[in-house]
Amino acid sequence: MDSYTFPYQQYLKAELPADMQQLVEAAEAATKGAYAPYSNLKVGASILMEDGNIVTGFNQENAAFPVGICAERAILSTIDLAKGTKIKAIAVTYSSDNNQNEKPIAPCGMCRQSILEMQQRQQAPIAVYMCSPKGLVIMIENAEFLLPFSFGSDDLPTYKPQV
Ligand code: THU
Repeated sequence: MDSYTFPYQQYLKAELPADMQQLVEAAEAATKGAYAPYSNLKVGASILMEDGNIVTGFNQENAAFPVGICAERAILSTIDLAKGTKIKAIAVTYSSDNNQNEKPIAPCGMCRQSILEMQQRQQAPIAVYMCSPKGLVIMIENAEFLLPFSFGSDDLPTYKPQV
């Protein structure tokens, strides 16, 4: 039998290097912009670009439930890789009515697919920081680890490479 294993690290926010602490704090601040009256789960995401720039986003829900968008895809859709700056890391966290929650949030399947395609387009790994409101952080260095046996551009004969 073959098996799939991947490395991850667990930290407390305070143990992270200063730039990553700043990234997590940007995601925490972004939760305030979330529009989540249906789930009450306010999700914030932040992206660190290789030039040091940080961008943030949050989830937006809608009464027609499938219309909403997760924080991760909301933010990814604002990034223009054709400008030449790559994504180094993405952090995601949340606030909810019960902020005693210690469990880090992990990107949903659809967001994993989107993060992975951005990684493949830029040909450089994207680290994913999954955080809890109480400061527990799980970090993986490569978005591929979150989506083994993925579907991708290789599976589409009509794919035309574009940055
Ligand atoms: N959500 C995110 O924004 N990111 C995640 O990683 C998981 C889920 C949002 C979608 C929806 O608005 C709410 O959280 C509950 O699923």
